[in-house]
Amino acid sequence: MDSFRYPLDDIRARCDIVDVVSSYVALKRSGKTLKGLCPFHTEKTPSFTVNQDTQRWMCFGCGANGDVFSFLMRIEGLTFSEAVEQLAAKAGVDISHAAKNSRSAGERDLILRINSLAAVYFRKALERSRVAQDYLRRRGVTAEVAERFRLGYAEAGWQGLADYLKSQGIRLEDGFKAGLLIAREHGGGYYDRFRHRLMFPIFDVQNRVIGFGGRDLGDGDVKYLNTPETRVFIKNKTLYALNFARKSISEQNNVVLVEGYMDALTAHAAGFDNVVATMGTALTNEHVNVLSRYTHSAVLAFDADSAGMSAALRSAPMFEAAEFEVKAAPMPEGDDPDSLIRRDRSAFAELVSNAVLIPDYKLKMITDRYDTTTKDGQLAVLKEAIPVIAEVSRQVERERLIALLAPYHPNYRKGTVPAELHIRQEVEARIAKTIKTVKSSQKARTKQVKPPDRINLLSEEGKAVRKAERELLGNMLCQEANALDVFREIPPDEFVSDDAKSVATALYQELLNTGTLDMDALVATVAGAPGERLLGELLVTGMEPSDIPIADLISTIKIYHKKEQEKRFRALAEKIQRGEIKRTDKEFAEYWQLVRELHI
Ligand code: CTP
Ligand code: MN
Repeated sequence: MDSFRYPLDDIRARCDIVDVVSSYVALKRSGKTLKGLCPFHTEKTPSFTVNQDTQRWMCFGCGANGDVFSFLMRIEGLTFSEAVEQLAAKAGVDISHAAKNSRSAGERDLILRINSLAAVYFRKALERSRVAQDYLRRRGVTAEVAERFRLGYAEAGWQGLADYLKSQGIRLEDGFKAGLLIAREHGGGYYDRFRHRLMFPIFDVQNRVIGFGGRDLGDGDVKYLNTPETRVFIKNKTLYALNFARKSISEQNNVVLVEGYMDALTAHAAGFDNVVATMGTALTNEHVNVLSRYTHSAVLAFDADSAGMSAALRSAPMFEAAEFEVKAAPMPEGDDPDSLIRRDRSAFAELVSNAVLIPDYKLKMITDRYDTTTKDGQLAVLKEAIPVIAEVSRQVERERLIALLAPYHPNYRKGTVPAELHIRQEVEARIAKTIKTVKSSQKARTKQVKPPDRINLLSEEGKAVRKAERELLGNMLCQEANALDVFREIPPDEFVSDDAKSVATALYQELLNTGTLDMDALVATVAGAPGERLLGELLVTGMEPSDIPIADLISTIKIYHKKEQEKRFRALAEKIQRGEIKRTDKEFAEYWQLVRELHI
């Protein structure tokens, strides 16, 4: 395989896994390892674990595990070579020789390089342009902020950038692949996509420029123009300013979402460090996924009637399913966060801290829409509010909302209890109806067969054996125990649970074949086998000598085997007595084998 030509150890030695992971996951030290929220599944308590000594990671929630390369592959959706090349570049390891035949990684890197060249070019153009500088001044953007966000200016001409890229040895079709140039319809050639625009570079969490947003500075009809989707720019999961905000988001355990580039920029300039922008698109599941690496609590500082807000309101169940708490802080009529912060910084701060949960916000919108002093108005409110409460999955939350809605019930004057009771009944009827429809549509899919339970491994005794096996393997991996000595006592196929057997077998083969213990080779051997997860766990948290003497671990497993054999012996003996086994049966031979082994 090509990949073996990469100097992986060299790269690994210079890219600490903790550094790399920290760009995506807020890690806290916990004893010998570091922990954070798993970026690969939704969770609220950290089970994602990184071990700096072994340079491996493992999520004890979802079972995903690996090394620095596989982490980057999964989180950025890269191929192995792409991950290697990215880390090599970061570490300053030259892999040009090995990478020569890897085309796709080349394309990603090339786009990133072109983006970075373009950002420099736009920045220089801004320094030359009166018009652009005046614009920034008018909007109150200081030089420091412009510098920090690496703002730039795309000149009004048609090929300033194209010429510049050419002068840097970039082929124009690659500039096109980066989304910066547009192909002419007639006559061939390329021209600049962004013209006479203020340029906002869009960064990924590693501070690389993955795309641009450009604001028109003239009177064109397209106010904002963005890089189209490229190999590196996927708008649906990109959040503007996340690179600046991620640290503060996890520290504050809260993110404030705004819609525009300027909103984010102004917010940061005013010291609201945990602000990111959705860039005008609806907040997607992908965004929620990205954010859940840092927090599970968000405030939407959107315009009340914006597309973003109505989409977010529709996606309330999606957030709830991701265990996300989302609040709405609608901006006052005629303001967006940018204008509000400039006019009245503390008003913005107050709106954000008074944000209300999405269902509460929906209820408020409903009650605001009707004249709730009339019975007709009250009935209309109930009709719209009940589905809102019914889609909330947590019962405690539903009860809270029922209490909130009760004062709008026509019978409320006669007492809180009957009003709440009636609302509750309506809500439950609505839920029952929904469940019925969901169930009937799922029926066809739920006929899966469950794998047989391995009862003996779930018993107390079974658990003790699993633990012993695990510790024994850990001792062997960190070479506290001599693996070959252990295998003389317990051959690999006498490890009881499937995963331990699989790790033991791979370890045994590895030792026999090479005489040394190479963790990478071991991981590669176990990949896809039942021991994959166990090995991942051991490499992250099990590489320490245990308190229990190795001899005891071995005898726990031996005793377990002996008891199992005795059980089997008794079962066979009974069968023979009942005349169910003939002399020619396999089980007859097994019986006599057991008699010999157990010295009966
Ligand atoms: N947007 C976009 N394409 C458009 C319009 C808007 O991508 N044609 C995105 C941009 O990210 C923009 C955000 O949606 O920042 C919000 O748009 P809008 O509210 O129209 O602009 P503002 O951010 O208020 O821009 P400005 O203050 O510069 O007028
Ligand atoms: Mn604005």
